Amino acid sequence: MTKPKEVEGKTNKFLSGKTAIVTGASSGIGRATALTLAQAGAAVVLHARRKDRITKVASDIQAQGGRAYAVAGDASSVSDIDKLLERTLSWKEGGGKYDIVVVNAGRGLAGSTLLSDNSQWQELYQLNVIGAAYLMRCAAKYLIGRKSGDIVAIGSVVGRNISPFSAFYGSSKFAIGAIAEGLRQEVCAHGVRVSLVMPGIVISEFQKVAGYSEENFYKGIDHMGKLLEPQAIADGICWLLTQPPHVNVSEIMIRPTGQNYP
Ligand SMILES: NC(=O)c1ccc[n+]([C@@H]2O[C@H](COP(=O)([O-])OP(=O)(O)OC[C@H]3O[C@@H](n4cnc5c(N)ncnc54)[C@H](OP(=O)(O)O)[C@@H]3O)[C@@H](O)[C@H]2O)c1
Repeated sequence: MTKPKEVEGKTNKFLSGKTAIVTGASSGIGRATALTLAQAGAAVVLHARRKDRITKVASDIQAQGGRAYAVAGDASSVSDIDKLLERTLSWKEGGGKYDIVVVNAGRGLAGSTLLSDNSQWQELYQLNVIGAAYLMRCAAKYLIGRKSGDIVAIGSVVGRNISPFSAFYGSSKFAIGAIAEGLRQEVCAHGVRVSLVMPGIVISEFQKVAGYSEENFYKGIDHMGKLLEPQAIADGICWLLTQPPHVNVSEIMIRPTGQNYP
């Protein structure tokens, strides 16, 4: 069987014995992260709505000798998040525990405050902010009890440097950045690390879901050259998880070299 590109040639098993939950694992950054953490030895719980997709990612991991468990659900629903955590704790191959949670599921929205489709505002906040914060809170309570662990939240460069062109979406990422830093301060004394990863432009299904077009997006980034693949973010996440327990990389921003803005 051909090896998935993302898992070729990586042999360092520094996450052996750890169990990681990755939300939004059916596509883009989440899929690349799940494959990369599995290659580093973690048992990985994959979460997203499209069950066929996460089942395929799980079988790719298993074909490489890794451990993976696909749990389908909606990351904007607190009851689905509760189910994800319950099922993780009853997954024997994962050791009936978890050590790492990558809070990645999210979506964008084309258009400025004036022009974005406000019928999508609530759904976007329910996923990017409420669902993400709920998962972070549940994970933090659990990891405090274990006195160690990692919560990695996926923010955005537009969650630090606002752009008028994606201000509504960007505001949700400002919110998750604030929640991540507040949580970090709350849990750090318990040995739990919280990291915020802020990607620049990554080519994935994100652009289509957000409704980006030539007019509202692509013509503004023409000059930026080669954009990021999801693997660049997965590698950044993997790197911060390799740090010794007393070192918390609390924020990283990863942009395409040619991305001058935002
Ligand atoms: N791409 C970029 O340029 C960029 C830049 C900065 C930050 N980000 C952030 O990075 C994260 C991942 O984005 P991506 O680029 O990898 O996008 P993507 O390819 O569209 O992946 C999004 C993932 O989120 C999942 N998802 C969406 N809505 C969900 C819901 N209601 N419940 C459960 N899962 C849901 C999708 O799975 P299902 O559809 O199967 O549910 C998919 O696995 C997002 O938080 C995004 O805001 C992306």
